[in-house]
Amino acid sequence: MNKAPLGVFDSGIGGLTVARALFERLPNESIIYFGDTARVPYGPKSPDTVRRYSAEILAYLLKRGVKAVVIACNTSTAHALGYLKERSSVPVVGVIEPGARAAVAATKTGTIGVIGTAGTIASGAYERAITALRPDVRVYSRPCPLFVPLVEEGWFDHPAAELIAREYLEPLKRAQVDVLVLGCTHYPLLKKLLSRVMGPDVKLVDSAEETAKVVSDELERQGLLANGGAHEHRFVVSDDEPHFRKVGALFLGGKLKQVEVAPL
Ligand code: DGL
Repeated sequence: MNKAPLGVFDSGIGGLTVARALFERLPNESIIYFGDTARVPYGPKSPDTVRRYSAEILAYLLKRGVKAVVIACNTSTAHALGYLKERSSVPVVGVIEPGARAAVAATKTGTIGVIGTAGTIASGAYERAITALRPDVRVYSRPCPLFVPLVEEGWFDHPAAELIAREYLEPLKRAQVDVLVLGCTHYPLLKKLLSRVMGPDVKLVDSAEETAKVVSDELERQGLLANGGAHEHRFVVSDDEPHFRKVGALFLGGKLKQVEVAPL
């Protein structure tokens, strides 16, 4: 039994998809969510820069006494998971390995598509995680950098978003993938559109739920679960911007009452 909070971080608001899955799977846990709103997006930035930002956030969360850290950001997981694990006194879980596991479990034909930010796709982290689980799987990857600003704009099902999605996803359709991994925090919000573009036979995999399961198993294995009693969630951003408050509140309902600002 450990009542310390769980730290969750992302480059900004998108990681709330992972936070929500954690709230659902681990209702007794307190969570501190950190969104690096001052420095988002991480997708186009170099691996070194993303590692440096991620290490600063880890240090901040450790100072706040977290018992484990969840990297909700795919780009940060791709570039910094190993780096943070080496520097952390508590367990660190990323989103890529759980997403890869879900994709391998879902494919029937052994042909998997992965979409993500430029940084995530260039890192090859999903291919490595998928082929480590099943070496015979063929992985087709495609960066979709325009999806993040479309989601931030709220254009989840806009004709412009559809045009861009058709262009990005054409090679994956041609490769006849039967699973598409949504390898970016923002993409679950485009699920309806992406499903329409890919067609009914392609299963979309979103790593949030699988990540929450891995976190739950890890806390249990290490005897770190909070088994009841009071809990509270805190939200911290590195820049006070109303967008996080507004969209985050819509996203999480009553859970996002107060947002602290902590420039790193
Ligand atoms: N959170 C990032 C990810 O999952 C997307 C937004 C960004 O580029 O920072 O890769």
